[in-house]
Amino acid sequence: MDTSKGQNLYQRAKELIPGGTQLLSKRPEMFAPGQWPPYYASASGCRVVDLDGNRFTDMSSMGIGSCLLGYADPVVNKAVIQAVQDGTMSTLNSPQEVELAELLVELHPWADMVRYARSGGEIMAIAVRIARAASGRDRIAFCGYHGWSDWYLAANLSEGDSLDGQLLPGLAPVGVPKALGGTIFPFHYNVIEELEEIIAQYGNSVGVIVMEPFRYQGPQDDFLLKVKEIARKNGSVLIFDEITSGWRHHLGGVHMKLGIEPDMAVFAKAVSNGVPMAAVIGKRAVMDSAQNSFISSTYWTERIGPAAALAAIKEYRRRDVPKIVGETGSAVHRIWKSAAEKAGLALAVEGPPALSHFSFACNNAAALGTLLTQELLKQGILGNSAFYASAGHDEKALQDYELAVNTVFPKLKRALDEDRVEASLEGPVAHKGFTRLT
Ligand SMILES: Cc1ncc(COP(=O)(O)O)c(C=O)c1O
Repeated sequence: MDTSKGQNLYQRAKELIPGGTQLLSKRPEMFAPGQWPPYYASASGCRVVDLDGNRFTDMSSMGIGSCLLGYADPVVNKAVIQAVQDGTMSTLNSPQEVELAELLVELHPWADMVRYARSGGEIMAIAVRIARAASGRDRIAFCGYHGWSDWYLAANLSEGDSLDGQLLPGLAPVGVPKALGGTIFPFHYNVIEELEEIIAQYGNSVGVIVMEPFRYQGPQDDFLLKVKEIARKNGSVLIFDEITSGWRHHLGGVHMKLGIEPDMAVFAKAVSNGVPMAAVIGKRAVMDSAQNSFISSTYWTERIGPAAALAAIKEYRRRDVPKIVGETGSAVHRIWKSAAEKAGLALAVEGPPALSHFSFACNNAAALGTLLTQELLKQGILGNSAFYASAGHDEKALQDYELAVNTVFPKLKRALDEDRVEASLEGPVAHKGFTRLT
């Protein structure tokens, strides 16, 4: 397979764009350096054509979780094209933002008001600003990944590795004002004692508790209920970050399925199926504080984002997309488990079906994961050990994937048994977490 056009362009990109791409998770180094196709020419459903004309079935993250309906969904595209034809921007506002607010509060009866941005990190910064404004307190207790902003990376100012146990290791707070040290404290999912400790120590200055309500594991022992109770008692605003969990497990967000209402919930990525859009919804008493804080930006008013979100959300509801992706994810779980068993390969499958992954039980898992990606590429599959199910994954994709996994897993097992995993790699081992590229 020739990917040289893409690889050469990426070499040039690294000279022009610090870090090569705008998103760590799109760096080819995170998959199989020098082998993973860096660029796409076109994408539709679950199929991607790279810059060199190679065709792949995407069995990885579907645009880092953004394309829950599949790529270039015709219904979303139609809404976007209409928005383009009607003018994406003007001196006046787009009525779609009111229509979208109506839909979001209809789907979340606990919420009354909505604000928008166009990306996840941005809308999280807005949510935290509003929550700080509403509580009148600066400090934050957090769990999970919430993007690239100063308020979040500040967690690594006091303890250099506070963020390592959340999602991404290696996030040095370079460029984040040291004065933000001591403003944000981590707790781990399902470890309520850690949150209790933060509140015991800093309680009256903690204005915000922010967390992903669900990533790969669900709440145990009423964890979310206990978090909510702590927030209520302490007078802290509880924010659920549904940027990754939203829409795929349940229409709206996973908090609706779990039956826990926060004070604010945040959506991006799948909310608009591949088109820039982000929303924070919340209770009136909290959201109204946004009137006292200057939160304002020109392109938060363009028309394409809300038009795409309206179309995507209506499709999620009409097609019952959470059910579809749950079934697709379960089918992939079965493929992994049965192929591993046949090959005699030890692996653990984790996560809910709609957002699943597996881990190898061996001491050179990073090299083995790179070999997996390398060999899947040869079978026409974009893949690693994580799978984000989408409604764009059809029967044929699952059949092709099953065949590919059943071809590749025995190769991995042989490489392990013969102690030649690293020797079988045709490029360097994939990076883990954030590092400088050169
Ligand atoms: C839970 C969560 N919050 C925030 C973000 C940041 O979103 P974005 O990459 O759109 O800035 C992400 C992205 O992966 C996420 O998964």
